[in-house]
Amino acid sequence: MTPAVARRPADLADDAPHATVDLTALAANVAALRARTAPGTRLMAAVKADAYGHGVARTAPALVAAGVDAFGVAEAAEALDLRALGVSADVLVFAPVRAGIAELAAADVALTVADAASLAAIERAAPPRPARVHLKVDTGMGRLGASVVGADGRSDPAGVRAALALAAAVDRSRHAVLEGVWTHLACADDANAAEPGSVTGAQVTAFEVVVEALARAGLRPATVHAANSAATIARPDAHFDLVRPGIAVYGQPPSAHVAALAPDLRPALTLDAPITFVKRVAAGTPIGYGATWRAPRATTVATVRLGYADGFPRALSSRGRAVVGERSAVVAGRVCMDQVMLDLGPHGDARVGDRAVFVGGAGPTAVEVAEAAGSFVYELLTRLGPRIVRRYVG
Ligand SMILES: Cc1ncc(COP(=O)(O)O)c(C=O)c1O
Repeated sequence: MTPAVARRPADLADDAPHATVDLTALAANVAALRARTAPGTRLMAAVKADAYGHGVARTAPALVAAGVDAFGVAEAAEALDLRALGVSADVLVFAPVRAGIAELAAADVALTVADAASLAAIERAAPPRPARVHLKVDTGMGRLGASVVGADGRSDPAGVRAALALAAAVDRSRHAVLEGVWTHLACADDANAAEPGSVTGAQVTAFEVVVEALARAGLRPATVHAANSAATIARPDAHFDLVRPGIAVYGQPPSAHVAALAPDLRPALTLDAPITFVKRVAAGTPIGYGATWRAPRATTVATVRLGYADGFPRALSSRGRAVVGERSAVVAGRVCMDQVMLDLGPHGDARVGDRAVFVGGAGPTAVEVAEAAGSFVYELLTRLGPRIVRRYVG
């Protein structure tokens, strides 16, 4: 959420950068993802990091209206924010939490148990009602959870037994209810992810071994899940009971390979910013910190209210671009903290208050911008700062 911006008088917004989020694009993306899943498969949208920079306060209710069943978040505060927004859909915190367990359980937020310590934290908290628990098993991501694979990525019987023991402990606990079992795929956006011999293939197989072992032991958590956006699009065999897409909900592909498989995704966000100053400069005029850029010819330079403190990468100094009117303009010199200069060209023409489009719409795509900065689309979107005013259409 972006309370600092929300308190500003509306007319100040004209002078601020804008991230405009098209809520109909979000709904279309949810429909596009749903069209790839079997009837009955639930859809959990990942809305961590302020809905990937899109602003969870407006995005989450729109996603509920679009038929999303559940939300995934990274931390307790994000889960409680959703409840404070009035979202009553299922919420899962993707990582074990040590604080706020009683409050989360009271708010009916599902918690992740990744090891004995995370279960012990729930028992110690003795929540007022049993916590809904999703057991996290590590099938090769190497981040969180009871590892059920060996170094070769194949299912490891000792690891599976340990995961079963943990599941049984959750099941026995009077402070927890075993509701789900899940894993996270490390390479589902790879070009070969659909092949059985791929890392993803091995992860899915190892996960199935755990799910089957749980069933044999009489433990059948209602919700089995593994698929992020890439697997939702590229690996139907990894859908199980629920898919957990994030980036694709916002209309961005997680990789070029997945982009080719999902041309129907619609980027929801456009980033533009106002021109605050325009000048004609002679050939050779230096622009910006370090005087790293000099006008190659007489040209028009516009200064724009957007900088690296807003999440516009400094790596785009003298290489990023934006669209002003019909014209593409390159970043002239170093991106500053709050401002950036654009070379509008010898025939360029703009007025103070005109807006330059940096991401989406008539401008470059978020993927293009991120890649030009040596980054990737997730980082670009989640770093869009609180001074950028979020606006919603649709
Ligand atoms: C556990 C978990 N599930 C799902 C997602 C959604 O991933 P993506 O945005 O690639 O769809 C994430 C995000 O990284 C995640 O951490």
